[in-house]
Amino acid sequence: MIAIGCDHAAVELKDEIVNFLKEKNIEVTDCGIKAGEKCDYPDMAEKVCGMITSGKAEKGILVCGTGIGMSIAANKIKGIRAACCSDHFSAKYTRLHNDANVLCMGARVIGPGIALELTDLFLNTEFEGGRHQRRVDLITKLEEK
Ligand code: RB5
Repeated sequence: MIAIGCDHAAVELKDEIVNFLKEKNIEVTDCGIKAGEKCDYPDMAEKVCGMITSGKAEKGILVCGTGIGMSIAANKIKGIRAACCSDHFSAKYTRLHNDANVLCMGARVIGPGIALELTDLFLNTEFEGGRHQRRVDLITKLEEK
């Protein structure tokens, strides 16, 4: 299950990603919002990340104007490793090396074409483990400090 959410700056992009995932038969929970509604990105980040930390979703996608606000908020939540990406290399390597579980993107930064490709890459790249596991464990330890 993939959980997805957006603020008012990225509703169209969020809807495109939802349709893209559905076409690929990937289960998706759309946490909102709908066109015409407004929300503050930290609230949406909390909602989508809660789906992950409660085990209801495996990964999350958060979109706002820049993707940055969503990623800052998401990374405050224990167990969340959110990466704000606008290029293919970052979307691939944040899975391979950081085991990122949330992809953040900016609707005012990239177009839907790139966003859908980054989504695909993010969801279909496995964490490499090995020496990277130790580093991810060190990130987890930071949560206790
Ligand atoms: C909303 O105007 C905008 O600030 C938000 O979408 C996002 O870009 C924040 O990081």
